[in-house]
Amino acid sequence: MIGLAEFMQHALYAPGLGYYTAGNVKFGGSGDFVTAPEISPLFGRVLAQQAAPSIRALQGGILEFGAGSGALAVTLLKTLAELDALPASYQILEVSPELCARQQEKLIAEVPELASIVVWIDALPEKFRGVVVANEVLDALPVERFVRSPDDVLQLCVGYSDGNFVYQTRPAGTPLRQQVLDIEAKIGGQFADGYTSEVSLGLKGWISDLLAAVDEGVVFLFDYGVTCHEYYAAERDLGWLRCHFRHHAHNEPLIYPGIQDITAWVNFSGVADAAFAHGAEIAGFVTQALFLMNGGLENELADFAALTQVEQIELSRQIKLLTLPSEMGEHFKCMGLCKGAVQVPDAFSFGDRAHNL
Ligand SMILES: C[S@@+](CC[C@H](N)C(=O)[O-])C[C@H]1O[C@@H](n2cnc3c(N)ncnc32)[C@H](O)[C@@H]1O
Repeated sequence: MIGLAEFMQHALYAPGLGYYTAGNVKFGGSGDFVTAPEISPLFGRVLAQQAAPSIRALQGGILEFGAGSGALAVTLLKTLAELDALPASYQILEVSPELCARQQEKLIAEVPELASIVVWIDALPEKFRGVVVANEVLDALPVERFVRSPDDVLQLCVGYSDGNFVYQTRPAGTPLRQQVLDIEAKIGGQFADGYTSEVSLGLKGWISDLLAAVDEGVVFLFDYGVTCHEYYAAERDLGWLRCHFRHHAHNEPLIYPGIQDITAWVNFSGVADAAFAHGAEIAGFVTQALFLMNGGLENELADFAALTQVEQIELSRQIKLLTLPSEMGEHFKCMGLCKGAVQVPDAFSFGDRAHNL
């Protein structure tokens, strides 16, 4: 039997076989899910407006984690060129060799004059200055599942029986048990008998490695997530796993290994604690809708009246998907982290929920 995090590691990243390392479509209508940069370039255009001041002030670069199809990189580079704020370099840290190739192809096809700025790296840079971007990457970090019993913390593991992967339990090891006890201390009480949820034991290390690599700059982390108190609310007793297969979202990670995406919502309080412990300021924590509205969405609509009716309808559709609470507007958040003497981006100027973390 193995822990769920190890199962996820194999199912998502096993060389040539994992969801992110094999050649399946993944993004868009014929894939399993769509992300904000795939829905509309508006997402990347607003992010470019927010990144430009730091890039100019630091004469810095961009570091993008998990660039997917390359759609966000294309939009960021195009828009930053328009804003006369091209980064000194655009580094992509991507775990999937197959996606690296797709990103390269897309950049060469869509922004041939800018593609040479982009480099693919396989380890964090040293003394990075500039803007870090990760859209829907934290949710892909492997998580452990636990079940509370009155006098113990159990780990929900993955075993194999009659040709199927099945859940099995064992007493949690020290790191998982300690993390659950720390969460109980934070929320002010022991979980009920049978309460089941997840923790990402790798999250702290991911944030601390990232912040150790950043000398000065702003980090934008986008993902679906909530605060610790919401994550571990009594009624949320089945956890936050989310699997994606051909636009069906469900919470059964043990089926379709390697051909479905397995994710978990992000506990942003955990991100904030780790960031604070490693010398970063929390620039803000806002919904995706507010990030876009505070961040200059209206600047992108200046020529709306000049568009054809069909174009207006299409743009309105994209804005609705990105901002409506029932779509991506509310569940998706942006957490901003600042390191060094950088200006807090305007995107966090209104509706900041950092005090709830
Ligand atoms: C859900 S996709 C999001 C893609 C893209 N950011 C977007 O918004 O369309 C997750 C991306 O993160 C990459 N990824 C997953 N785990 C990663 C990690 N630990 N470090 C860097 N990239 C990772 C995947 O290969 C994939 O490109």
